[in-house]
Amino acid sequence: MELIVTPTYESMSRVAADRIAELVRANPACTLGLATGSTPEGLYADLVADCAAGKLSFAEVTTFNLDEYCGLSPEHDQSYRYFMNHHLFDHVDIDKARTHVPEPFGADLAEAGEAYEAAIDQAGGVDLQLLGLGHNGHIGFNEPCDFFPAKTHGVVLTPMTREANSRLFAGGIDEVPTEALTMGIGTIMAARSVLLVVSGEGKAAILREVLQGPVTPQVPASILQFHPSVTVVADEAAASLLA
Ligand code: GLP
Repeated sequence: MELIVTPTYESMSRVAADRIAELVRANPACTLGLATGSTPEGLYADLVADCAAGKLSFAEVTTFNLDEYCGLSPEHDQSYRYFMNHHLFDHVDIDKARTHVPEPFGADLAEAGEAYEAAIDQAGGVDLQLLGLGHNGHIGFNEPCDFFPAKTHGVVLTPMTREANSRLFAGGIDEVPTEALTMGIGTIMAARSVLLVVSGEGKAAILREVLQGPVTPQVPASILQFHPSVTVVADEAAASLLA
């Protein structure tokens, strides 16, 4: 595992954006796994700027997002489809038909999960999976539990996650969905490389558990210790408790 510690959120974003840009330049038809949350917003802004400056093209890139809330339409400003359009897809030269966000809109989440896995397989798998980190160690919406879920599946969100994400909903916690569809831990581990971005002192304790604690499904991201190609980009605040 490679750990890069940067002085600030802005430099964390730039370093992570450069990793993605390098891959896209080397392999313009690559497949990216993308993440939402506040942490990647800065790196998406950097990628948009690179594209606007003519340094980068997403014309042949395919993307698969980690997760999506149940019960929010794609037009809802807190849906992850809306987030991706707003922060990246609407501002770069990507073909939207090649962008995928899980679609938990029908009655059958298991079926939606299978369809998503099939689409990833058909695209030849994910070259680089971008991840943020939940306060309880979740990646995607894989919450702490007794096992590592393999494939894209429906989940019930923990009170901690709903509370953390409620800051983004105008109507507060009552508006935060209770369920989501997320790539599984196995889906994430199948990516050929992983880029984890972590920012702020509020994530310092969980980042230490993830990188230096035991590998356990109670801290889902700890499984990344077993992935052969992981880069962690953390700002100094997030890295402040690492040994
Ligand atoms: C959400 C997303 C995760 C994300 C996490 C952390 O729950 N499902 O993919 O990593 O939030 O978000 P933030 O970066 O805002 O702390």
